[in-house]
Amino acid sequence: MSVSRVPSRRRYLVCEPRHFAVRYAINPWMHPDRPVDVDLARGQWAELIGAYRAHGHTVETAEPVAGLPDMVFAANAALVLGGRVLGSLFHAPERRPESTAYETWFKAAGYDVHRPESVCEGEGDLVPAGRWVLAGTGFRTTREAHREAQEFFGVPVISLQLVDPWFYHLDTALFVLDDGAGGGEANIAYWPEAFSPGSREVLARLYPDAVLATRADAHAFGLNAVSDGRHVFLPPGAGELAARLAHHGYVPVPVDLSEFHKAGGGIKCCTQEIRR
Ligand code: ARG
Repeated sequence: MSVSRVPSRRRYLVCEPRHFAVRYAINPWMHPDRPVDVDLARGQWAELIGAYRAHGHTVETAEPVAGLPDMVFAANAALVLGGRVLGSLFHAPERRPESTAYETWFKAAGYDVHRPESVCEGEGDLVPAGRWVLAGTGFRTTREAHREAQEFFGVPVISLQLVDPWFYHLDTALFVLDDGAGGGEANIAYWPEAFSPGSREVLARLYPDAVLATRADAHAFGLNAVSDGRHVFLPPGAGELAARLAHHGYVPVPVDLSEFHKAGGGIKCCTQEIRR
């Protein structure tokens, strides 16, 4: 395809996997009895950070806290849009202290944090995609939190029903290719089967040119990807999706976070985007 995709520089917030582990099971991927190779995980994570920096993105780090093994999944801590920060309220009691740990980072960086009243897992379920924020529900973030997000940001929030427990966060089933910030149309990639029939119809109406992934791509965490408008950081296992993206003019950048899949997370889960 002849379209030339233009990247834009991003600011990402991440958290080093110093205390990463699988100690409890709050999604079907997690098995506390199966070992995690922490050194491998740290090496894989460092590759991701290296890839972001090599592509011109700014990476900042929140200080990891001992006893919070999922804190590496920075995306879940907040949604930052237009410099406003909507914090998080985790579904699992094990993860609740993460919200305060990230609040510390945001406050030091000069942001006020608005705390949601209902369960809300940040960019895990709230995804700015052009004129709307797409919002997942069914497993974690509640519809009440979608309403809170709409009121807080003043941006229309589109509620989408997730139906497959393996795809418990919106960011495991859908990601934004283009956020429309450069003036063009926003576009997304997703796996339709993770959504209820009505939500599939909504996505097809809003994004008629979306790139669709296969079941195998989705199970390889292919939709838990990060795009800068040109480069798409995605797992090497999502081969069909990478081919489809290339056909649409995007440049796939494979990064393997296999150790994190054992916790039910991937590239996007490890990455919070700070949209000033
Ligand atoms: N173990 C974490 C959980 O179940 C993984 C979170 C993955 N993050 C994401 N943005 N999908 O909460």
